[in-house]
Amino acid sequence: MNKLVAGNWKMNGSLVSNRALLAAINPVAGVDVLVCVPFPYLAQAQERHPGVALGAQDVSEFRNGAYTGEVSVSMLRDFGCAYVLVGHSERRALFGESDETVGRKAVAALEGGIEPIVCVGETLAQRDAGLVVEVIGAQLEAVLGVLGREGMSRITIAYEPVWAIGTGRSATAAQAGEVHRSIRDWLLGRHVDAGRIRILYGGSMKPQNAPELFATECVGGGLVGGASLVAGDFSAICRAAAPV
Ligand code: 13P
Repeated sequence: MNKLVAGNWKMNGSLVSNRALLAAINPVAGVDVLVCVPFPYLAQAQERHPGVALGAQDVSEFRNGAYTGEVSVSMLRDFGCAYVLVGHSERRALFGESDETVGRKAVAALEGGIEPIVCVGETLAQRDAGLVVEVIGAQLEAVLGVLGREGMSRITIAYEPVWAIGTGRSATAAQAGEVHRSIRDWLLGRHVDAGRIRILYGGSMKPQNAPELFATECVGGGLVGGASLVAGDFSAICRAAAPV
């Protein structure tokens, strides 16, 4: 299976700066390249190179109706989104999204025909307390509870240790590998067919550390924040994900 490299622009960009960035993102043979842009720029990004997929950073758990400010799955589909991030740690920490909300968003996306990229990860305090497996297990359990085994087998998972996001302090390949393996074991333990589930690593991924992370067992790609805003860096990370 190809590795998936997803750029998460977060709340960054402008019509002018996006133009240059999008023009510099090119498909890479053997790699699935994705950009997750802010909602207002979906239309602009839709005109990207056809070999680059488009995604959003959040989605409503509701189908349509009186939900001021929300954006539905069908709206994302109208703009050609193939993927949507759900449960990014910034949404969990800053906007109060619970494991259950994340589960409902994942099911809304999947039922609407968009692949959810379910983000999980522990804080530094949770890591220090030896709770990595428990925390991630609870985050995944809430998603499995609503998606069921079959639905769960059709998602992407992103492991993003909170302490590595935007800090310049990436998890080491060994740390990432250990957690990715434990996520696979967790899925197997729940009898989920994990054959086509890609588990991405996210958190201070850069051209310098991407090759080692991508070479790590069970790492199926990357979710890239800051470096996805720098065309040369994002392109280098995408190239590092190419099959050897
Ligand atoms: P950074 O790559 O900036 O650490 O962000 C990671 C992230 O949160 C991607 O979703």
